[in-house]
Amino acid sequence: MRVLLLGGHGKVALLLSPLLAGRGDAVTAVIRNPAHAEEVAATGATPLVLDLERGDDLADALANVDAVVWTAGAGGGSRERTYAVDRDAAIRSMDAAERARVRRYVMVSWIGSSPDHGVDPDSAFYAYADAKLAADDHLRASALDWTILGPGTLTLDPPTGRIQRDPDGDGRVPRADVAAVIAASLADDRTVGRFVRFGSGEVPIAEAIVS
Ligand SMILES: NC(=O)c1ccc[n+]([C@@H]2O[C@H](COP(=O)([O-])OP(=O)(O)OC[C@H]3O[C@@H](n4cnc5c(N)ncnc54)[C@H](OP(=O)(O)O)[C@@H]3O)[C@@H](O)[C@H]2O)c1
Repeated sequence: MRVLLLGGHGKVALLLSPLLAGRGDAVTAVIRNPAHAEEVAATGATPLVLDLERGDDLADALANVDAVVWTAGAGGGSRERTYAVDRDAAIRSMDAAERARVRRYVMVSWIGSSPDHGVDPDSAFYAYADAKLAADDHLRASALDWTILGPGTLTLDPPTGRIQRDPDGDGRVPRADVAAVIAASLADDRTVGRFVRFGSGEVPIAEAIVS
């Protein structure tokens, strides 16, 4: 599979690229900082420098691609940057994927991404919740074969290979397991059209994502 990975130098992305490259997928990892190219190339991906926030044209990057994966994010910066990256750039990438006739799109969202997320509009977290929901809704309304992944709080713990769907609590989960969930979702079309909310658990990933 030829995968365009948006947010290629992110912590999840750096764990995902070796998984995909290791099974023979061709990964092009979009990064905004050329200084990250060497580190990204060492994961088995081909780095491509583009700024998603600036609206750089993705058309060339999307030619001959089978799937797009979104793991980018403003990382809780200002409200303006959060909307610019987590909502507007994400939506642009979906529209570009549709125009390029790339069918598959896997979005890394978050566990609470629903209209009843309950985040206080005055809280610093509100822009993120609102931006992610807008992006997720845009993806659901698109013609793409989408999967929305909703992990809970991300950790840097080692992978377990096991998750729990719709967990109680904050759904903490290692980024390495999130990477494995992305890889497994790309490989299983039964995840198309699903919002997979998850945290760490006891169910093997390949089984949990289609349960
Ligand atoms: N943190 C959590 O607990 C949590 C929970 C649930 C879901 N999530 C979601 O999980 C996903 C991955 O998380 P993570 O920990 O891997 O995030 P991360 O390490 O912060 O990675 C995000 C990446 O996005 C890139 N990026 C930001 N703006 C960009 C732009 N304008 N153009 C191109 N790339 C840009 C960043 O580039 P630089 O490396 O150059 O900064 C960074 O590499 C995110 O979508 C996040 O919303 C996070």
